[in-house]
Amino acid sequence: MSNRIRDLHKVPWWQRAVFYQIYPRSFQDTNGDGIGDLPGIIRRLDYLNDGAQNAASLGVDALWISPFYPSPMTDFGYDIKDYTDVDAMFGSLQDFKTLLTEAHKRNIRVIIDLVLNHTSDQHPWFIEASSSRDSPRRDWYLWHPGRPPRFGWLLGQRRRPRKPNNWLAIFELKGAWWWHRQTREYYLGTFTRSQPEVNWRNLELREAMYDVMRFWLDLGVDGYRLDVVNWFIKDDQFRSNPWSMVMSPDLFQEHIYDRNRPETHDICRRMRTLTDEYAPDARRRPNDERILVGEVFSRNAGLAAEFHGYNNDELHMAFNFDFLYQPWSARAFHQSIMRWYDAIPAGAWPNFTLSNHDQPRHYGRYRKPLFTEARARVAAAMLLTLKGTPFLYYGEEIGMDNLPIRRSDLQDPFGKKTWPIRKFGRDPERTPMQWDSSPFAGFTEHGRRPWLPIPRNSVRRNVEVQREDPRSLLNFYRALIAARKKHAVLQIGEITFLIPGTRNILAYRRDVQHDDGSPSIAVFLNFGLRRVLDFQRYLHPSERERFAERNWTVLFGTHRDAGNAVGLPTLQACEVLLLVSEN
Ligand code: GLC
Ligand code: CA
Repeated sequence: MSNRIRDLHKVPWWQRAVFYQIYPRSFQDTNGDGIGDLPGIIRRLDYLNDGAQNAASLGVDALWISPFYPSPMTDFGYDIKDYTDVDAMFGSLQDFKTLLTEAHKRNIRVIIDLVLNHTSDQHPWFIEASSSRDSPRRDWYLWHPGRPPRFGWLLGQRRRPRKPNNWLAIFELKGAWWWHRQTREYYLGTFTRSQPEVNWRNLELREAMYDVMRFWLDLGVDGYRLDVVNWFIKDDQFRSNPWSMVMSPDLFQEHIYDRNRPETHDICRRMRTLTDEYAPDARRRPNDERILVGEVFSRNAGLAAEFHGYNNDELHMAFNFDFLYQPWSARAFHQSIMRWYDAIPAGAWPNFTLSNHDQPRHYGRYRKPLFTEARARVAAAMLLTLKGTPFLYYGEEIGMDNLPIRRSDLQDPFGKKTWPIRKFGRDPERTPMQWDSSPFAGFTEHGRRPWLPIPRNSVRRNVEVQREDPRSLLNFYRALIAARKKHAVLQIGEITFLIPGTRNILAYRRDVQHDDGSPSIAVFLNFGLRRVLDFQRYLHPSERERFAERNWTVLFGTHRDAGNAVGLPTLQACEVLLLVSEN
């Protein structure tokens, strides 16, 4: 990919964009039922990007919206019972069309969340498939008669067969095979029993899923966030997984038979072809591209990176979740960043994420008395200045935290199952967006309790308050996003590390090719709680001279004013410093 600023128009939009994930239940309620909805997202679009770079607007370029399809909500929408409609709770298909039009008017792209590994057990396909062993849709799901019962000869043949293998349902902490009494076979559900897994080896099923993809692309969505792509295909012999030592998230199994089968890549390639058909002239018009961003559920960065395809013919991006598991350390982050850059195939484009709807928010993960807020700034500056597409999670821009949830308020099936261990439940990171200081934080108006409680600190920590405060985290995010927009080198420039974690400092330079005449930017992030004297001393020897040759001025930072020379040689605790140098 060219990285000259003057060729910027040739760079696909999704490589330059800042993405923002919305969990629709928790963003904005408009009809007073305590649950966020699509009209709520429409109402808040100007906050996300008003298309005019107004001071009141965050300036993100693309949204990923978590599922809003009709669903019994066992897993809050990740259990779909109709792929081509909107749940009445969230509004209507017409609302979605309006949302799309209104977003596009403001230059906001929209990708939607598609869950193609499983349906709800209330999906008509499953109802039909489970009606009889001879149902024409039987093979759309995964059925198994089970293994002969132990001591069956002793107890007669009436005993239920044993489960076919040792695969596990992660949200139930039980075997993943569920006995279907009527047809006397097991079906597979590796999340909950209400999420039966479809059979991707069945060609009719495949076509049905591709039709679903076409449905929303035809409506004009800019792409998909694909749920658990590495899960689609299971071992054709249903072999048991070998045991492993890793508890979370692997549940002590090496997932070589229930996930990560090689055939899955064929499906990704087919999906890519389908998506590419919507932008036949993408080479000349990269802004037409529709994209696939896949969740590869694994802690193995190498495995996730493979889903770009070695010829870059699979997913546009496989989520890089490595930051979700890093301790607060410049060195750890440096290693994590390099791990991803090294793992992705040549020509693939990197991405980074600090928080999402499945993991504790990073604001709380990196809590440190007196320094939590400062760390949030360091984290934001890193996320928004690295080479790679950043994904923000709603509310991180105002420092939303994880809220401990009382047992009676629990919603997440996994949280209920693992109570009272708080580490696993996902409700704490899904609480309603904090818009203002009113009793329900502006999330809902008519007095009905929101579906999850709202933290008490929302009175102080909310969009309205932070908008007014030039030193707020929200304005810090805004400024970084604006800097990214203004200086395309932050979007597409190459990255060279200047300090790889020495003294808890992470520093890097972003440049484009020399003949281009565009500025370079250097980023210094002090992860430590101590000042570092004479920080330039820690520059990598090969970079020190080059750095000194240039004339750097402050572009942006937590401790220095823009436009000044670098000044003080000391980097303060948790200081963020962006320098710019004209070539
Ligand atoms: C993905 C989603 C998660 C959901 C699961 C089952 O991991 O991110 O929220 O519960 O898939 O669909
Ligand atoms: Ca509502």
